Amino acid sequence: MTEPSAHLRATADAYDAVAVRYAELPRDDLTALPLDRAILAAFAESARAAGAGPVAELGCGPGPVTAHLRDLGLDEVFGVDLSPVMIDLARHTYPDLRFEVGSMDALDLADGALGGIVCWYSIIHTPPEELPAYFAEFRRVLAPGGHLLLAFFESEGEPVTPFDHRVATAFRWPIDELAELAGAAGFVEVGRLLRAPHGEERRHRRGRLLLRVSSVAPE
Ligand SMILES: C[S@@+](CC[C@H](N)C(=O)[O-])C[C@H]1O[C@@H](n2cnc3c(N)ncnc32)[C@H](O)[C@@H]1O
Repeated sequence: MTEPSAHLRATADAYDAVAVRYAELPRDDLTALPLDRAILAAFAESARAAGAGPVAELGCGPGPVTAHLRDLGLDEVFGVDLSPVMIDLARHTYPDLRFEVGSMDALDLADGALGGIVCWYSIIHTPPEELPAYFAEFRRVLAPGGHLLLAFFESEGEPVTPFDHRVATAFRWPIDELAELAGAAGFVEVGRLLRAPHGEERRHRRGRLLLRVSSVAPE
């Protein structure tokens, strides 16, 4: 097995250290965010209609989005996270759901094993030069017809920009650039959403990209 990169070890340690507090942080949950619920519902409906297999939330943290996906009718849904403490919390909070420790750039899954992937603020810490390899891994494990939903901080006209996220350095992305990067890895865009920060979120426009596996092989 290859050793995790320094950046992955640092991210796992940072989330391990804050996991309990993170799960309790005041932030707007999905009930206050109708646009987020709308794109998650669109993802769930598309994944169900495609019938391409189980859905994974990669970078699931304490698990609320995984649980929301289950509540949207995705019965074969599970979560994966780098941080063992986050996974313990998720298992404790949602004992009826499956959660596994793992890194989304090296998934313990066969080619084409999944019908859908959600990355809800989990690619935000990935150094930009490493992201193409992440998208290639998502493309590998998704079956034909599979869907990918990305939630991230949008850069509002700036190039890719690092910022002082409260847990570890994160990156804000131009939505077009992220869509292009996913396109190069073999995804086509289904739709996108930009929204203003809401309530406790305070700063940074939010981007969401709904993509599906292209029938054309990646470049
Ligand atoms: C901002 S939190 C979001 C958690 C969850 N998706 C939510 O919205 O509640 C980011 C999570 O991504 C995880 N993460 C970051 N890089 C990862 C990787 N390469 N593989 C798996 N999980 C990762 C972190 O450990 C952390 O729990």
